[in-house]
Amino acid sequence: MVGAVSNARADGPAGARLRALSSADLDRVQAIEEASQVTPWSPGNFRDCLRSGYRCQVATVDGVPVAFMILSSVLDECHLLNIAVAPAWQRRGLARWMLRRALVAAEAEDMSVMFLEVRAGNHGAQRLYRELGFEETGRRKGYYRTRAEAREDAVLMMVEIAGCHK
Ligand SMILES: CC(C)(COP(=O)(O)OP(=O)(O)OC[C@H]1O[C@@H](n2cnc3c(N)ncnc32)[C@H](O)[C@@H]1OP(=O)(O)O)[C@@H](O)C(=O)NCCC(=O)NCCS
Repeated sequence: MVGAVSNARADGPAGARLRALSSADLDRVQAIEEASQVTPWSPGNFRDCLRSGYRCQVATVDGVPVAFMILSSVLDECHLLNIAVAPAWQRRGLARWMLRRALVAAEAEDMSVMFLEVRAGNHGAQRLYRELGFEETGRRKGYYRTRAEAREDAVLMMVEIAGCHK
């Protein structure tokens, strides 16, 4: 984890900034979601996350949202519920930077673990998560729908946070 959370700079690739997602961002966030995800969340899913007080953040470049992430937390455990980067902005290090910022914030809040689920076929995202220290802890068979109305396994991953970069 040492390398994973070091260098969690305030400004990211292309001068990106991270800030709280507000309801004014929802149209843009929904467009990013629909352009990037296999089975996108609905607008209602995002509104529920805002209402529930989850950590909802957008990364902006020149003030325009280009990526977002949503995390929930219970006691000392947090859960990455969603992360997406607009296709034109992928592979520039935005997700790595956002997740490092999330891990630093989680440690400052005395969280001890972060969990996530990812499609078994989403090898790019899994590579990113492993680079940040996440390890596979199990699988949920047929957890996700696919575009072809078939099912795909979820890979469950977690990383220990507490004291990870002391
Ligand atoms: C997964 C996702 C969030 C990654 O965002 P990103 O900003 O493009 O990722 P980064 O540029 O920070 O990538 C960091 C590293 O992760 C790995 N990685 C990311 N995307 C990859 C891909 N498509 N293929 C292979 N490796 C990939 C690489 O190791 C990459 O480092 P490199 O570019 O130096 O080789 C983005 O592809 C996305 O929005 N996908 C659709 C939504 C999604 O799958 N969300 C995750 C659901 S669990």
